[in-house]
Amino acid sequence: MGTVFDAAKKEETTSALSIEKPKVVFVLGGPGSGKGTQCANIVEHFGYTHLSAGDLLRAEIKSGSENGTMIQNMISEGKIVPSEVTIKLLEKAIVEIDNDKFLIDGFPRNEENRAAFELVTGIVPEFVLFFDCSEEEMERRLLSRNQGRVDDNIDTIRKRFKVFVESSLAVIEYYNSKGKVKKIDAAKPVGEVFEAVKAIFAPVSDKVAA
Ligand code: ADP
Ligand code: C5P
Ligand code: MG
Repeated sequence: MGTVFDAAKKEETTSALSIEKPKVVFVLGGPGSGKGTQCANIVEHFGYTHLSAGDLLRAEIKSGSENGTMIQNMISEGKIVPSEVTIKLLEKAIVEIDNDKFLIDGFPRNEENRAAFELVTGIVPEFVLFFDCSEEEMERRLLSRNQGRVDDNIDTIRKRFKVFVESSLAVIEYYNSKGKVKKIDAAKPVGEVFEAVKAIFAPVSDKVAA
């Protein structure tokens, strides 16, 4: 019937990822909680490749793709782009990049994202890193981010917070029920947050030596 799940089922047997599955960590948290900042640190110290779903969608707009206008409209409104689009971009990046471990930042953003990704790729995350931060602090950070983003204005920020509470928290709860969530207090300064992140990523042997 043309739903994302039908498409996913069809693709299930053809996806390159169904043969060789990389290790995936989902990095989740509200807008401005510091996902991108900490992913850069994790890449440097632990050899992961960072894939930000938001960055991939913004690159797709810039590339002049036929979906560009739709994506631009969704981002301007803080809405979640249909899974089919985002998953294709993630799959393409994973297949093209020669690494076996990826941080997927800002995805899955809702139940549809989560279920479709699992169905299409067959990948189950090793764990989920959840950056927990108050809306007051996230709002302060977003309003001073200064990256020229169309969605870093107070109206869109409020819409993004609403979407996070109404759609994204359910994904974190889902993984929490499976014992996969590692929650970090993300309201602290960058260095302190990274100390907590390191404790999660460092191999057990390093922890003993430290
Ligand atoms: P996200 O990817 O979760 O939206 P970013 O990593 O882009 O968040 O961070 C949002 C803004 O907040 C950026 O300007 C960043 O420099 C800043 N920032 C990130 N982490 C912290 C922190 N722990 N304390 C203060 N500012 C931070
Ligand atoms: O994660 P980031 O803040 O960069 O995401 C920016 C926007 O990109 C989101 O508010 C949303 O409109 C879109 N997005 C999406 N689906 C995702 C990730 C991001 O639609 N999984
Ligand atoms: Mg980000």
